[in-house]
Amino acid sequence: MNDKIYTQPMLKENALDGKVIVVTGGGTGLGKSMTKYFSDLGAKVVIASRKFDVLKNTAAEIEQHSGNRVLPVKCDVTSFDDIRNLLTQTLNEFSRVDVLVNNAAGNFISPTERLSHRAFDIIVNIVLRGTYYATLSFGKHWIKNRHTASVLNIVTTYAWTGSGYVVPSAVAKAGVLALTRSLAVEWAKYGIRLNAIAPGPFPTKGAWDRLFPEELRTKFAVEKKIPLRRTGEHQELANLAAYLVSDYSAFINGEVVTIDGGEWLKGAGEFNFLDEIHPEMWDEIEKIIRSKK
Ligand code: HXC
Ligand code: NAP
Repeated sequence: MNDKIYTQPMLKENALDGKVIVVTGGGTGLGKSMTKYFSDLGAKVVIASRKFDVLKNTAAEIEQHSGNRVLPVKCDVTSFDDIRNLLTQTLNEFSRVDVLVNNAAGNFISPTERLSHRAFDIIVNIVLRGTYYATLSFGKHWIKNRHTASVLNIVTTYAWTGSGYVVPSAVAKAGVLALTRSLAVEWAKYGIRLNAIAPGPFPTKGAWDRLFPEELRTKFAVEKKIPLRRTGEHQELANLAAYLVSDYSAFINGEVVTIDGGEWLKGAGEFNFLDEIHPEMWDEIEKIIRSKK
């Protein structure tokens, strides 16, 4: 097997032909990687975030590669007016919208007791409020127009385990996961599917600057926490996202797909620390245990 096959595009050419997809936070990082792949697969993509210059450059770069329109829209997801404007601009440009990817996020590591209430607010507002504003706004449009559609939310594995030092993000992502599962059932009758992806560490400037700064990285190698001993490749996440927003996944609804090389389960399993035991020591350990009969 080619061990780098996971860095290659996976879906059939034109798998997203004709779809209009809105990606919040689509100008950078994983949002940009998803946007690029959606566009290569034939979708028209709208990317939305606060920094219009960044969006414009990303849109031009991706359009040039794929030949498909990418529309940049300045939008702060914490503002309901901005979200309404995002929907309006999308419909003005493309006359329809089929998929919403709630990817925009804010995060940084900090002991919780050092946070001001404003620091807590800023993260929860981007991640949770931003997601429900967009989902509500787009959902109402789809329901009113009887339009089949889907939502993909980008969460993370501590949405269900919780995690110290990123508590506002953990609280907000847990809310996004609850929203995903709740509306997957409530809105299925309207033909609206909701799913989520829970990535483990995927190198991006945004996440690395705020979560794994250089000084910490030399002390705690990220890869060591992951059973597969590597971080994620953007294309493997883009492959999964493209599948989940495509019609090939039409029966997948309310699911959260973890893509983390086994990271969170390693932390969860009672005896996973035994990884540290040198293989030769097992003969000795077995002898000791058998002798206890
Ligand atoms: C403590 C901090 C802080 C820090 C900001 N604040 N940084 N408090 N420690 N390191 C406080 C400020 O003092 C202020 O509170 C409040 O937070 C708002 O800060 P601003 O700088 O005014 O906000 P803003 O300019 O809007 O920036 C928002 C941000 C920033 C979230 C703080 O980091 C950002 O723009 N992030 C977007 C991209 C991002 O975070 N990407 C990473 C996603 S990775 P006071 O009280 O002073 O007013 C991710 C991965 C998860 O989610 C899983 C990985 C495995
Ligand atoms: P990133 O590049 O920093 O992406 C975050 C994006 O959110 C940026 O493009 C940013 O653009 C946008 N954003 C922030 N605040 C916003 C606001 N108020 N309104 C609109 N847009 C806003 O980081 P990333 O690593 O690619 O993260 C993408 C997603 O993956 C996030 O949901 C993150 O939680 C999730 N995730 C990442 C990892 C990882 O290891 N990288 C792991 C698990 C989950 P502007 O600054 O222009 O607004």
